[in-house]
Amino acid sequence: MASIIAQATEKLSIVETVYVDEVAGSDEGTGTETSPMKTPLKALEKHGENIKIVIKKDEEGYKDISGAALKKAKKSLLEHQRKLKKQEEQKQKLEEELKKKHEEEAKALERAKSIVLTQDTSLPKAEKIKIRQSTDSRGKRVKVSGWVHRLRVQGKDMMFVILRDGSGFLQCVLTGELCHTFDAITLTTESTITVYGVINALPEGKKAPDNHELVVDYWELVGKAPDGDEAFNSKVTTDADPSYLLDNRHLVLRGETSAAVFKARAEVIKAFRAHYESRGYTEVTPPCMVQTQVEGGATLFEFNYYGETAYLTQSSQLYLETCLPSLGDVFSLAESYRAEKSHTRRHLSEYSHLEAEMAFLTFEDMLDNIEDLVCDVIDRVMAHEPTRKLIEQLNPTFQPPARPFLRMNYADAIKYLKDNDIKKEDGSYYQYGEDIPEAPERAMTDKINRPILLCRFPANIKAFYMQKCSDDPSVTESVDVLMPNVGEIVGGSMRMNDMNELLEAYKREGIDPSPYYWYTDQRKYGTCPHGGYGLGVERFLAWLLNRHTVRDCSLYPRFTGRCTP
Ligand code: 4AD
Repeated sequence: MASIIAQATEKLSIVETVYVDEVAGSDEGTGTETSPMKTPLKALEKHGENIKIVIKKDEEGYKDISGAALKKAKKSLLEHQRKLKKQEEQKQKLEEELKKKHEEEAKALERAKSIVLTQDTSLPKAEKIKIRQSTDSRGKRVKVSGWVHRLRVQGKDMMFVILRDGSGFLQCVLTGELCHTFDAITLTTESTITVYGVINALPEGKKAPDNHELVVDYWELVGKAPDGDEAFNSKVTTDADPSYLLDNRHLVLRGETSAAVFKARAEVIKAFRAHYESRGYTEVTPPCMVQTQVEGGATLFEFNYYGETAYLTQSSQLYLETCLPSLGDVFSLAESYRAEKSHTRRHLSEYSHLEAEMAFLTFEDMLDNIEDLVCDVIDRVMAHEPTRKLIEQLNPTFQPPARPFLRMNYADAIKYLKDNDIKKEDGSYYQYGEDIPEAPERAMTDKINRPILLCRFPANIKAFYMQKCSDDPSVTESVDVLMPNVGEIVGGSMRMNDMNELLEAYKREGIDPSPYYWYTDQRKYGTCPHGGYGLGVERFLAWLLNRHTVRDCSLYPRFTGRCTP
């Protein structure tokens, strides 16, 4: 008897005491006096029901838990355990269902592998076409290859593919067995395929590109694009970080907006060439590797040319000037390079520079020529139906600029900035003789909201070669064309045609005249009044197509810190 009592006492004495402090405890605690828990429920859950709970609610210290509180905690524990069990059962059920689904899919895929499509040899031979030819090819059996731009699966027996080949978009409809093959079930966007079938006009009310669709009778996979995390649509999203999108520029270019920009760009370039052709200019192709500067040493990209210092050209202007005596008015479209330190939305390190040079003309003639170029090129692209549609797609509110452009002198621009309270960052006004930077220039242009030919800049803020105005030699026969939303898109001037004046200008700018001997010679061997301009193609496009930055108008933009891909 004594030993039974002793055993019971020993058992009682080993009942664990768990400390609960409802104010300062934590359910992460161990339950000792120095690390109390916060709630009786968690104490029971962690230490089991065979414990003694002492609880502290206020300053008075630990007391045994009341019978009612213990009962309540045990009831809560039971409920909690029931809930957990239910959750666990549901989880298991879901896992089993998912496993079953995967197994079924795997089986379906295995079955699909055995389905092999064959061409129906009784059908007419398919003629290979590009999508742009599809309207003319309606009713005939054709073969079209391209990329899966969009994919919509409708039930087990129907798939819609919007096919893209760069020349257009074509809806293709696949039915029955054509949708059951392994390649059909696993088809992804950006995969390449070849489809065979007949293009039929769509009935009223149904919509697809060019209002027709290709009813596929046979198709082949050419190259499968990845799915899952690597899938095109998860990689290229419009809300992605700009730098990530630039790293993936090769994929971004496949998008409808980019494609529209570069289609329009190609047409705009064609229109520039057509304009010059119609006005009797000759196109020339000057070198990109040079040993002279045009627009100041600060933005020169220098490189080692067989042991000599050379530069990537900033402008082909000086070379164009040398062509006047033999070819007459000339133009070139070449890449220009600027080591711009500025990270702005209109500066590139490499840009497409359209430049023209004309002989025997006045400054006023040149301004007229620039206005003619801009307006005629806009007229040409707007008259070309597909390009007009691209412009409407990208810039729905675009209105061709009205002639004549506003002609404004630099001095008046300085006054305009002051009158309209457009200030420097430090709160002061721009003074005559200072360069007008991008922000105030754009503020002014946006406010005026029409093209401006900004003329007669002071000589000290312009390039060495600019002709001085005869009525005021402190200013030059120079012009910047400013467009709303972008700012400067063209820079031009008349050129000094007096040799001695040019030699003085080299001296003033600290330029060694010797590498410029060929440029100086133009003034020696029959000089003439002449002038020209350079137009930044990406800036022109940013204006026309309403792009936020010139980067969007360059295939693979180069700017500070980016030379890839
Ligand atoms: O005003 P700029 O520097 O003039 C010249 O280079 C002259 N030599 C051209 C000439 O008279 N033949 O540049 C002309 C145009 C600018 O108006 C602008 O549109 C573009 O070239 N441009 C740039 N575009 C993109 N990124 C840059 N970093 C640019 N710098 C100039």
